[in-house]
Amino acid sequence: MTEIQQNTLKKRIFSGMQPSGEAHLGNYLGALRRWVGMQDEYDCVWCIVDDHAITSGGDPAEMPSSVFDLAVSFLAVGLDPERSTIFVQSDVHEHTELAWLFNAVTPVGDLERMTQYKDKAQHFESIPAGILNYPILQAADILLYKANAVPVGEDQRQHLELTREVARKFNARYGETFPITEPLIGEDVGRILGLDGNAKMSKSLGNTVGILADPDDVWDKVRTAVTDPQRVRRDDPGRPEVCNVFALHRFFTEENAREEIEAGCRSADLGCVDCKRILSGNIATSFAPYRERATHYREHPSEVRDVLDQGAEKAQKIASETMQEVRRKMGLNWRNAIP
Ligand code: TRP
Repeated sequence: MTEIQQNTLKKRIFSGMQPSGEAHLGNYLGALRRWVGMQDEYDCVWCIVDDHAITSGGDPAEMPSSVFDLAVSFLAVGLDPERSTIFVQSDVHEHTELAWLFNAVTPVGDLERMTQYKDKAQHFESIPAGILNYPILQAADILLYKANAVPVGEDQRQHLELTREVARKFNARYGETFPITEPLIGEDVGRILGLDGNAKMSKSLGNTVGILADPDDVWDKVRTAVTDPQRVRRDDPGRPEVCNVFALHRFFTEENAREEIEAGCRSADLGCVDCKRILSGNIATSFAPYRERATHYREHPSEVRDVLDQGAEKAQKIASETMQEVRRKMGLNWRNAIP
């Protein structure tokens, strides 16, 4: 079987990540780790969603480097432009165009019901429409490529449900066009909290660590991590099952060593500081190849540009085909009035 034939048999998946600079532990555990492993099985489209990011009101002066740094992280962890399409959302204008057209089939009530919208809206006196319409752009991202499935975290399940509803409504009104995209929610990796114990790990909360951080910086962050709150003194026995540091060991520490840590924690033979030292060392070691690749890309930024340029070109080909079909189906083809 030729490569092209094989490709057409693969299911297409799409996923996006907001550009907030270098990827952090949460991005890695929740998304990138999985994405890398999906590249052989699926026809993958990976997007840095800067058009989404403008809704959170960041500093425009920082956007270009945030996008570049995330692209470096993508490449460093092993997203592979030979096997996947990797690009920046704002390079492919069809995303915002399709999002506008989807406004025609999306009930405002559905948008207002999104829990992420309700959470975000609390922070505004006057809510920007972009916060409300955010999931419409997300639906456009996915459906522009007629993606069969989307690997996302549990937090995006509701947005995916809205995407499916947009596809159903569009198909019902304008004829069969879009697939009803499946969510690919990862196997439950257990709850990973921020290093400060906050429910969410995020760069803006400062409770995570960059995947490309130097070992010393990894230690600076891991050292501060919250552990079992009941383990106050050094000889208090700990409870690994409620400890976020132990939860992280599951990703970075071999099973045998982990069992020793677990026993040492319960018996209080192993203190939290030593436990964190082991974790910090293991994180730094397992990310070492990523740091090395990132260094290469930072020294050769034009390679990153070329990857993103070629990715945008590939994406745009698919996107413009979908848009031709959509415009025709919606009657946005006035030239047809002329015989
Ligand atoms: N909203 C997603 C997030 O915050 C990012 C995103 C944008 C996305 N478009 C997407 C994810 C399309 C999956 C598919 O994580």
